[in-house]
Amino acid sequence: MKKPLRKAVLPVAGLGTRFLPATKAMAKEMLPVVDKPLIQYAIEEARAAGIEQFCMVTGRGKTALVEHFDIAFELEATLRQRNRVEAMEALKGTQVEPGSMVTVRQQVPLGLGHAIWCARAFIGDDPFAILLPDDLVLSQTPCLKQLADAYQETGGNVVAVVEVPREHTNRYGILKTGADDGRLVEVQGLVEKPAPADAPSNLSIIGRYVLMPEVIGHLAKMERGAGNEVQLTDGMAKLIGSQPFHGLRYEGTRFDCGDKAGFLEAQIAFALARPDLADAVRAFLKKY
Ligand code: G1P
Repeated sequence: MKKPLRKAVLPVAGLGTRFLPATKAMAKEMLPVVDKPLIQYAIEEARAAGIEQFCMVTGRGKTALVEHFDIAFELEATLRQRNRVEAMEALKGTQVEPGSMVTVRQQVPLGLGHAIWCARAFIGDDPFAILLPDDLVLSQTPCLKQLADAYQETGGNVVAVVEVPREHTNRYGILKTGADDGRLVEVQGLVEKPAPADAPSNLSIIGRYVLMPEVIGHLAKMERGAGNEVQLTDGMAKLIGSQPFHGLRYEGTRFDCGDKAGFLEAQIAFALARPDLADAVRAFLKKY
């Protein structure tokens, strides 16, 4: 029997050094794309995939992320008093069910695998999703929903994958591929950030995962991998052979919002997808 997918882990302990000085006193996950912070896109995407429980793996200086999903009593009372209906509407996506969001702290930055391991008590014996808020996906069907559906089909681990130029394999987790129907691809191996010459393919993992809880046992060994970090990719690789493991070529466009150019491109693409902004944005883009 497949267990339902109801939990998501969101690693948000990163320092955001690539966005200094903007991220000196602010969590990088609070950077907005158009008018919504990255973290809220991730939470909304998770919700649309049926996720009901959230665990943010945070660090020092990240309290705004927790505040963002709390009730802002004075603000909401003032808006109500002034009958600011639109503004009240804009806050809707920030509301979470009481008790549905927890945080754990990753005290030391030992890598993504270590961050996920920090959420082990939250994960327990259940399958869980991971969303890396830096990766933003513009799609018809929310990316994590596509993965959740693939989990229903395959009953095992599923990661979102996309082909990247070979010279970029050293930025991502890369698949060694088996049977491939063009949409779902069987994972035979996983390597974190291989040099182009060593990469077993150019199929890369983006920041959306559905994993089985057994990965925690492998991460617990705290083996260091690429960059001397505890890599999630290495922990996942240990599941291959004992559990189904697939890559899903998702429908949609992914933006790497951890990168300045990627972040700016996301602003334009998401603004153009908004009926209230598209015309104005198209008009000023012509000027440049
Ligand atoms: C992480 C993962 C990598 C994955 C990438 C997706 O890398 O380690 O396997 O491909 O996210 O964005 P990071 O971007 O944290 O270096």
